Amino acid sequence: MEIRKYGDPVLREKARAVAEVTDEVRELIKDMAGTMYENKGIGLAAPQVGVKSRVIVVDGGQGLLALINPEILSSPEAGEELAEEGCLSLPEITVEVKRARKIRVKGLSEKGKNIETEAEGLLARAIQHEVDHLNGILMIDRISYARRQLLRSQLKKLEKAHA
Ligand code: NI
Repeated sequence: MEIRKYGDPVLREKARAVAEVTDEVRELIKDMAGTMYENKGIGLAAPQVGVKSRVIVVDGGQGLLALINPEILSSPEAGEELAEEGCLSLPEITVEVKRARKIRVKGLSEKGKNIETEAEGLLARAIQHEVDHLNGILMIDRISYARRQLLRSQLKKLEKAHA
């Protein structure tokens, strides 16, 4: 699947909840996972391939996790952590983002079953990053204005490439 890059308006839209986990959704997950691995990403959200549905795939090194209608139940007691992130929709850009170190997340599996699981470290970070995508939020929205200014020319270039 083609990865939508910064400048594509689909990345700024709020994705819709999946009403029913159908074969079409399973097919989407399969294609998204393939696209994620092919591009050596650790996560991908449906809007990044132009689909406005609340579906994410992540793999923080422990295998593929696909979540439909994911919802983060925060665990603020575990604190936050600052670490570098990249995004397949923002090629060649890395930024330091503060995220919850540990989260609980619930959603539906590709079989339509309820999942609730705990994640920490890289996996927790990837899930938070991908859920942001479902709400039209990009990692560059989570850094300071001053830091974003430093990326201005790179962002402009991406916007131009899209136009
Ligand atoms: Ni991303």
